[in-house]
Amino acid sequence: MSSIVVTGGTPLQGTVGILGAKNAVLKEMVAALLAPGRHRLSNVPSIVDVELMCRVLEHTGCKVEQGDHELWLVVPENLVPEAPIELVRAMRASIVVLGPLLARCGEVSVALPGGDDLGARPIGWHLDGLEAMGAEFELVHGELMGRVDGRLRGAEVELPFPSVGATENLLFAGVLADGVTNIVNAAREPEIEDLIAHLVSMGAEITGGGTSLVTIRGVESLRTSDHRVVPDRLEAGTYAVAGAVTGGDVTVTGCVPDHLRMELRKLEEAGCGVERGEGWIRVKGPERPSAVDIATLPFPGFHTDMQPQMVALLSVADGTSVVTENLYDARFRYIGELARMGADISTESQHAVIRGVDRLSGCPVLAPDIRAGAALVIAGLMADGATRVNDAAHIDRGYEDFDGRLASLGAEISRAD
Ligand code: EPU
Repeated sequence: MSSIVVTGGTPLQGTVGILGAKNAVLKEMVAALLAPGRHRLSNVPSIVDVELMCRVLEHTGCKVEQGDHELWLVVPENLVPEAPIELVRAMRASIVVLGPLLARCGEVSVALPGGDDLGARPIGWHLDGLEAMGAEFELVHGELMGRVDGRLRGAEVELPFPSVGATENLLFAGVLADGVTNIVNAAREPEIEDLIAHLVSMGAEITGGGTSLVTIRGVESLRTSDHRVVPDRLEAGTYAVAGAVTGGDVTVTGCVPDHLRMELRKLEEAGCGVERGEGWIRVKGPERPSAVDIATLPFPGFHTDMQPQMVALLSVADGTSVVTENLYDARFRYIGELARMGADISTESQHAVIRGVDRLSGCPVLAPDIRAGAALVIAGLMADGATRVNDAAHIDRGYEDFDGRLASLGAEISRAD
């Protein structure tokens, strides 16, 4: 796996443009399975997870053509309704093929994803919801075998928590089901709203996107789509924090500032100057950030996928911050790596107490996942000397040319094998 080597101390300056959201495009690729024909997606980031999802779709019989931030998916009439273990292990998000493949084929076989670096990550709510719609599941030698007699049936499904993935699987199942499906306590993330807009452009009848009650009136069939992926608020937020920690002045374009309301508010509380306009944000870092308390929550709360980046910033803040992680049970594993750089952080179950230190000191660290990897690079941007972030391939799963974009803002950064 390659490494990113960063030497701290340069305030980042300039403008960086961002691309479509990883967590929208992956599901919008899967949505294509619902209608045979040639689909087009634009504003597609060139990231490893998109490549992996191309492999998942090819396994089902689709043809994939890639252009400059564009993707064409040619979906056959007859699909192979399965996702094997090597693909599901490489990318858990593959689990969202359950809904479309059941809806289109009446049967599905998907390897059960295990836990990952963020924790156990069960999928029981996906299965409960699909069972309420008439599906039956059996776990055979690690393979989840699902089937339904005839069409899936509309149902009222109340989620115990607004799970992104469960909402997506139920949307996929509901659009071709017989009757009306209500998803109560649905996820309200902008990526879900964008997926709903995409499904509606395919002929689906869905109301309530962006609210906790999503209603789907099933239709007999859907048509092909041409959709532009919503901007990636996590990519935008990551560059904003990178600028802020270096005391720099960074403008992020191609984003939707409203999708980052809570994250920008916390940057302001930490002493950053934040300006925003139509499609852009500008963040000016303070000389030293102030301590801030944060609790991660589903949208519109503070995003768990921005937690590690903010912890990196708070590790050099003036004062003590408390960060509470409410989504994942193992999202603080990277903190040992930050501690190697001199951060003073203690964790107790889902809380991290961060006592700000004057400076971090560069050293070799390991990126355990996408966001923690980005956070370690951010820590390196302000640390004394060089930081080598190993296993940087994790970062490439979610960020297109992360080091190149940071270099364009003035960072002293390079790739090493
Ligand atoms: N959960 C259950 N049972 C379920 C489903 C979820 O207990 O049946 C729990 C999970 O274990 C977790 C919580 O509910 O503790 C939230 O999980 P959710 O289903 O909302 O997350 P996800 O769909 O698996 C997506 C993103 C994640 C992001 C979360 C939360 C994709 C591909 N992944 O995951 O993104 O953190 O929503 O917003 O969309 C990332 O991009 O780095 C990333 C991890």
